[in-house]
Amino acid sequence: MRQSSLVVVANRLPLDDNAAPDGACEWRRSPGGLTSALHAILEQTPATWVGWAGGTGRAPILPDLGSLQIRPVALSEAELRGYYEGFANSTLWPLYHDAVEPPVFHRDWWETYQSVNHRFAQATAEVAEPGAAVWVQDYHLSLVPQYLRDLRPDLLIGFFLHVPFPPPELFMQLPRRVELLRGMLGADLVGFQRPQAAHNVAQLAAKLLAAQATDDQITLPDARVVRTGAFPVSIDVAEMQSLARRPAVVSRARQLRHDLGEPRRVLLSVDRLDYTKGIEHRLTAYSELLRDGRIKVRDTVVVQVAVPSRERVDSYRSLRDRIEGEVGRINGEYGRVGEAAIHYLNQPFDRAELAALYRTADVMVVTPLRDGMNLVAKEFVAAREDVAGALVLSEFAGAADELQHAFLVNPHDVDGLKETLLCAMRADPADLRARMGAMREHLRGHDIIAWARAYLTALDDSGRLADRLPASGAAGPKSRGVAAKARAVASRSRSVARRRPPA
Ligand code: ADP
Ligand code: G6P
Repeated sequence: MRQSSLVVVANRLPLDDNAAPDGACEWRRSPGGLTSALHAILEQTPATWVGWAGGTGRAPILPDLGSLQIRPVALSEAELRGYYEGFANSTLWPLYHDAVEPPVFHRDWWETYQSVNHRFAQATAEVAEPGAAVWVQDYHLSLVPQYLRDLRPDLLIGFFLHVPFPPPELFMQLPRRVELLRGMLGADLVGFQRPQAAHNVAQLAAKLLAAQATDDQITLPDARVVRTGAFPVSIDVAEMQSLARRPAVVSRARQLRHDLGEPRRVLLSVDRLDYTKGIEHRLTAYSELLRDGRIKVRDTVVVQVAVPSRERVDSYRSLRDRIEGEVGRINGEYGRVGEAAIHYLNQPFDRAELAALYRTADVMVVTPLRDGMNLVAKEFVAAREDVAGALVLSEFAGAADELQHAFLVNPHDVDGLKETLLCAMRADPADLRARMGAMREHLRGHDIIAWARAYLTALDDSGRLADRLPASGAAGPKSRGVAAKARAVASRSRSVARRRPPA
């Protein structure tokens, strides 16, 4: 395998290990923010992506995707349980999301997390050319920066956390807090979605590591300096805009509205089925609005897309059962023959179908209890070429910092949520147009390429990294060459991590 001057390391690869019948490889357009964001830039940038292909056992041999070389990392079944389902998604994920589900701590998960992080670091060290830049992504790989520094002191190392970083009082619960913080601060630059995260890390570094820390720089006791900062991630705005204006997507949106019974209003939510997304609070709000006669099934239609995620983890399985029970109850109580109260879609969709759904919505309801960014909110705005539609957005999503013209709401406050939904449904079209126009204007200057450019320039201000990126606004159209070969697929049904365990 050849060595690269830019290596991206993320738990997930953008590429499935499936081959299409004609032998072409398939992009994994997975329903997850990280791969959605990164694949848009990397398919056009000479680099290597180190990551897990989604199964267990030997790592598959995967072809390059254009200029992007793929270096798979193998996981055994025991490692999948201890590292991915265990420490990453049952300890860190809930802890970093306000502990909305109680984090679970198991000592053997920590052992596996360390050894898998070490394997990722070794794989990265092998493919990085001397003096290369390495960009490590997300909470699964917090220890990789320090392991990599030990293996390859010549590298320039960046770390970006796509999820929130918790307040010190929550982080302090973590039994291995010192090691985890040290691991992350092995990087030269640590990036977050929001400035508050950098502040939290500075406080913890001072307290736990005796560092000198401000919100943008941490000096460790050995005098090494780690820079920190906020770099809010974004989407491939050009791709979503060009999809949304395709005649086939416009007519599909019309068809969807017709199939929904030509209601006065369509309310839409699109989430991974995750307890951080606030789906249950939202269902309570709809149900009470129906109960109180403030909305009627025949003129207000609710579409909830909830794609299964991390299905072998107990908390995700029980969430799915609770949500499906509640949707069944609401439909049983308020629906009629041919008129469902909630259209619940538990499937992955391709990008064009998502764009059509976004175009169909009168009110997009994005109400996570805590979310690093929430790219769905940005995708909705990018898809609204018609400068119409309302966005109801949680204050606890990173996107709320930027999309200030949304109808912002505290999703924990069900009464407030009900009033905000009604307010968005009844808003004056001129007001909606002004809000949507302002949000679209913001997104135009803050797409995924602008994000990568800002981060890579901060990592290396010589410009050698940022210069490889395409111009802002160019990601979508230029990606056609590789995308034509590497077909976009939405389904990951063969992925072990998503498969439901046998009953
Ligand atoms: P998270 O990163 O927690 O999954 P985000 O909202 O940031 O949440 O990103 C979710 C990504 O997954 C978006 O790019 C969205 O388009 C995609 N996605 C969500 N639901 C589906 C689905 N049913 N089918 C395909 N893609 C989906
Ligand atoms: C969030 C995380 C990503 C993750 C994605 C999907 O966006 O920040 O790192 O890839 O969720 O979750 P999954 O467990 O399927 O990778």
